[in-house]
Amino acid sequence: MIEIENVRKSFGPLEVLKGIDLTVQNGEVLTVIGGSGSGKSTLLTCINGLEPIDSGRILIDGTEVHAKGTDLNKLRRKVGIVFQQWNAFPHLTVLENVTLAPRKVLGMARAQAEEIAVRQLNHVGLGDKLKTYPGRLSGGQQQRMAIARALAMSPRYMLFDEVTSALDPQLVGEVLDTLKMLAQEGMTMILVTHEMAFARDVSDRVAFFHQGVMAEIGPPAHIFGDPQHPETRKFLSSSRQ
Ligand SMILES: Nc1ncnc2c1ncn2[C@@H]1O[C@H](COP(=O)(O)OP(=O)(O)OP(=O)(O)O)[C@@H](O)[C@H]1O
Ligand SMILES: [Mg+2]
Repeated sequence: MIEIENVRKSFGPLEVLKGIDLTVQNGEVLTVIGGSGSGKSTLLTCINGLEPIDSGRILIDGTEVHAKGTDLNKLRRKVGIVFQQWNAFPHLTVLENVTLAPRKVLGMARAQAEEIAVRQLNHVGLGDKLKTYPGRLSGGQQQRMAIARALAMSPRYMLFDEVTSALDPQLVGEVLDTLKMLAQEGMTMILVTHEMAFARDVSDRVAFFHQGVMAEIGPPAHIFGDPQHPETRKFLSSSRQ
């Protein structure tokens, strides 16, 4: 499980996370919503150790992410992250892009890495694009390749940061379907998204962030149907327009 205890984080004078407490259980799908600049992306980058924190603790299966002796590379294998855009290597095929990290980081033999990559690419519906170059993929296909690439490392946890927000509207659905499939398979995930209908459908819990504070957290029916915090109400009514 992922345990976040009173985490504070500033960029210069700006405090971006103001004491976040949050536990994500194994198998749980947590969606994080909130306005621009509320600290959503920062939270994800702190969880997988891409950013240092100022105080508090983040524990992944009991291992403290920001402790001195922690092997961050090992930890990141456990916690996959997919961003809004991932720049694939243009001169490598889809299959080669997905086998790269298992081969380089895990030292896996080519045959084994390819077997895993083919399985994950089939899983996200790209089984017919193995020999294609990324430049020939649609935006939605590129995002699904990025998801397959993260899955090829066999992570226990997955973090998704607005993976559909750079896509043309007609391509959003196929990527959300892929995320939903992972959720249904029991993958533990934290998703930052602006897709409210999707969040309502797929989440076990939804957390609303406002100016570095987790203002409200609860089951989607509560957050969307009966929000308690005035800022949640304000955010939801503006995002419905
Ligand atoms: N590397 C950085 N250096 C300085 N300030 C940063 C850095 N990263 C983020 N910030 C600032 O921290 C605040 C929170 O940023 P963050 O990216 O976490 O917001 P967000 O909730 O993900 O917003 P969005 O919905 O726009 O993606 C913002 O004010 C942002 O400008
Ligand atoms: Mg963000």
